[in-house]
Amino acid sequence: MARWISEETGGELFRIVPSEAYGEDFDACADRAKNELDNEIRPELSSHIDPEIMAKYDVIYIGFPVWWYDLPMPVWTFLEEYDLSGKTIIPFFSHNGSSNGANSVNRVSELAEGADVLADDALSLRGSSVAGSEEEVKDWAAGFVK
Ligand SMILES: Cc1cc2nc3c(=O)[nH]c(=O)nc-3n(C[C@H](O)[C@H](O)[C@H](O)COP(=O)(O)O)c2cc1C
Repeated sequence: MARWISEETGGELFRIVPSEAYGEDFDACADRAKNELDNEIRPELSSHIDPEIMAKYDVIYIGFPVWWYDLPMPVWTFLEEYDLSGKTIIPFFSHNGSSNGANSVNRVSELAEGADVLADDALSLRGSSVAGSEEEVKDWAAGFVK
């Protein structure tokens, strides 16, 4: 989804990478994610954007999978790491049933202090339908470009 958005808008891609990978084992990933959420643990990230570079961006499309009806904790870390005030933040996410994003998009608004989060315009796609959704994603992304 992020790649299609960048193709459509000319935006730069940045991947939010936790220092410790969540791994391929679903149960282990789910347990860790639940524990982090319950305890509001912000996992360390291995990739960062220079604050001076971040300051030059006005619009950020932020993408994530819904995890435990909320925003994955590495995205909490990301949103709190930078001064996002004055920026426009446009969320997009995949899910496996929580089609309205549950609490994830609210969480973006809460954590992106001072930013204008376009919560009502967030793009929601079921994970299994992402692969066939290039046109939908690009049409959606184009709607924000003046
Ligand atoms: C730890 C974990 C928690 C999840 N919690 C939710 C959830 O609360 N609601 C939901 O719709 N999907 C949930 N999912 C499913 C993911 O949103 C889904 O895997 C993701 O959107 C990618 O889709 P795919 O697995 O079909 O590729 C969860 C997945 C994981 C790994």
